[in-house]
Amino acid sequence: MLAAVDSGRAYVKYVGPNGVAGKFPAWIHPYYETELDVLSGREDMAVEYNGQRWYIGEVVDRVVDAGGRQQKQPQKGTQNTVLFILAALWKMGAHDCDPIQLVTGLPMPLYKDEKTRNMLKQALEGTHTIRVTTGEGEDTRTLLIDELHFAAEGAGAFYSRPANALGHFLDVGSRTIHAHVFKNKRFHAGLSFSCAWGFDSLKENHKNPDYVARQIDGEISSKWGRDAEIWVAGGVAHEVAAALQRLGYENVTAIPDSQMANAYGLFKMLQVAKGG
Ligand SMILES: Nc1ncnc2c1ncn2[C@@H]1O[C@H](COP(=O)(O)OP(=O)(O)OP(=O)(O)O)[C@@H](O)[C@H]1O
Ligand SMILES: [Mg+2]
Repeated sequence: MLAAVDSGRAYVKYVGPNGVAGKFPAWIHPYYETELDVLSGREDMAVEYNGQRWYIGEVVDRVVDAGGRQQKQPQKGTQNTVLFILAALWKMGAHDCDPIQLVTGLPMPLYKDEKTRNMLKQALEGTHTIRVTTGEGEDTRTLLIDELHFAAEGAGAFYSRPANALGHFLDVGSRTIHAHVFKNKRFHAGLSFSCAWGFDSLKENHKNPDYVARQIDGEISSKWGRDAEIWVAGGVAHEVAAALQRLGYENVTAIPDSQMANAYGLFKMLQVAKGG
């Protein structure tokens, strides 16, 4: 089975064969017994792996104590990333011992970091038995990850929507913004950059699309120009695209299903690489 997981710091997004696609909040909290059952529906998960157990997804909102903050994923390439990816594969319906070819995105600095790659390869390649409890019951499955591939995160958006000769792609995430340019389908390093902040890193009074658009404008107005063909991906793509239009960018469009764009692009890249 081919599988793509974009393990974002706000949402985990996944795409598999036959139109399988979805997302869940990248929230995780150690499991504890509650007085009343908190798992409802298939969205709430308690995941047991290697003798430890966690709540993952929407349900975390209902198990953190009053003083506890929602444990959003602060970094990528960590143990949490491994758990989110396994949970995503389970949700995608990976069968027992069906070999999985997996691609996952890493933000630029981590994409080139051998330590992160090795850690994830060691942790993910091979067999994993997970026990998942949802509001609908319990399921134990052995997932077999045959191959793990990495892709540069922002590039996924490009592959979801190949553009004309010169395409500019913005991926506005919760902690990162990728601004990648592709010229004749090749990455253009000189015109591309990433920002180490995203929508959730901003102070409350700056947490609005117009502020984000002004910051992006400061970076791209001279580099790209206001008539550049720009495609926007990420959870707040539509709002940011509209704000950029208000600043005079005429050729900016939010990619349809923009939050899933990276995951769809990663899946497409994998399909092409595997000749499917
Ligand atoms: N349903 C929603 N309602 C409100 N805000 C949302 C929703 N979905 C996403 N967002 C906002 O969009 C932002 C970006 O979401 P996205 O899924 O692109 O982030 P991410 O990929 O998890 O982050 P990163 O790429 O930085 O790791 C989030 O910070 C969140 O605040
Ligand atoms: Mg993202």
